[in-house]
Amino acid sequence: MALKITVIGTGYLGATHAAAMAELGFEVLGLDVVPEKIELLSSGRVPMYEPGLEDLLAKHVAGIEGSTGRLRFTTSWEEVGAFGDVHFVCVNTPQKHGEYACDMSYVDAAFASLAAVVREGALVVGKSTVPVGSAERLAGLLPEGVDLAWNPEFLREGFAVQDTLRPDRIVVGVQDFGARAEKTLREVYAVPVGQGSPFVVTDFPTAELVKTAANSFLATKISFINAMAEVCEAAGGDVAKLAEAIGHDDRIGAKFLRAGVGFGGGCLPKDIRAFMARAGELGVDQALTFLREIDSINMRRRGQMVEMAREVLGGNSFLGRRVAVLGATFKPDSDDVRDSPALNVAGQIHLQGGQVTVYDPKGMENARRLFPTLGYAETALDAVRGADVVLHLTEWREFRELDPAELAAVASSPVILDGRNALDSELWRAAGWTYRAMGRPRA
Ligand code: UGA
Repeated sequence: MALKITVIGTGYLGATHAAAMAELGFEVLGLDVVPEKIELLSSGRVPMYEPGLEDLLAKHVAGIEGSTGRLRFTTSWEEVGAFGDVHFVCVNTPQKHGEYACDMSYVDAAFASLAAVVREGALVVGKSTVPVGSAERLAGLLPEGVDLAWNPEFLREGFAVQDTLRPDRIVVGVQDFGARAEKTLREVYAVPVGQGSPFVVTDFPTAELVKTAANSFLATKISFINAMAEVCEAAGGDVAKLAEAIGHDDRIGAKFLRAGVGFGGGCLPKDIRAFMARAGELGVDQALTFLREIDSINMRRRGQMVEMAREVLGGNSFLGRRVAVLGATFKPDSDDVRDSPALNVAGQIHLQGGQVTVYDPKGMENARRLFPTLGYAETALDAVRGADVVLHLTEWREFRELDPAELAAVASSPVILDGRNALDSELWRAAGWTYRAMGRPRA
């Protein structure tokens, strides 16, 4: 009999995982404690923008015409306990208020509820990003005869569906190598493994660490290139050329070397902080002191963007000056504005008296909710109308495809600051714009 799978927590990770498991052929039941989310998902929709996810849901959610009917959603723990052979825990672990450590309350609550209903012989699989040592503690909360495995997730927002269906690696932390938990997960992931995804089996602490180590490395790569941008700015170099040149060395690699306003989102910033906090608890804080520097290089970029805008406006105050901000989300192809460098910069300029107008292709609603006092425009053209300076802060394709001449005609002063090093500088300059980017010569 095919395994029956439940997915607990239907945010980014859970909703995508549930749909992917149905796509792989399993019967899937997703649970969330928020009834509105369950209602939305049951109609094949998601509360966020993620390319391809609604199509995949529509293909499998029971009750939708033409669907396989393999995917259902519920708020009932009893139903989940009775249904599942394998339970994936996908709830989120945000940063605690006023602390670096991560908030484990959703994970703890999910395990407590699950422990009360799980069937003997079932497997619980943790996917949430947790501090090392959590899996061992959580295993102790489960009843006798129920195994735990830790299976971190590496999906990127904007590519969640493809990253889940064809992961570049599957990492599985188990207590006993080769035992039932490992065998069950080999069965769950037989299709992607058959298509070439490496399957790495580790102990619990290693599996938990793989996730935080990977995100720390990515954050380090971005802050490294941003540190080089600072030096380039002082020395008159060009960080984009520098990144291109060092990226040809395949030991370094060209990816994640795009200098600009830095990293944001719900993962990288909070993961490096939680990792530092955990290292402190383990008595090895020195091992991760460098992450503090990675964090401050990153946060400094936002301030530098504000200063660059001030400089092009004459070096004094923002009072009464009109600033257009293109982009609100922390990256393109997402509507996620959590810890977004773009909104952070917009907010700082607004607080200093600037009249800021933001436009983003998908993030307007979330941005408005978070920063209701900023100005918002319905199109990029409207945001730029009358602007003394334009800030490009999220690299949406739509912005690369804008017509600089059309925008120059409506801007009060054609000055653009490219905070993502993603626009074609020659095109903008040819249309009469003063184009400046972070870590690059003024030309
Ligand atoms: C990140 C990781 O890339 C995923 O592998 C991981 O699964 C996920 O966190 C998670 O922990 O759940 P994500 O937060 O979706 O994924 O975003 P990234 O694509 O990593 O981008 C993070 C930030 O770095 C964005 O603000 C992006 O604009 C910025 N970035 C990225 C740069 O500033 N420069 C670059 O060269 C690349």
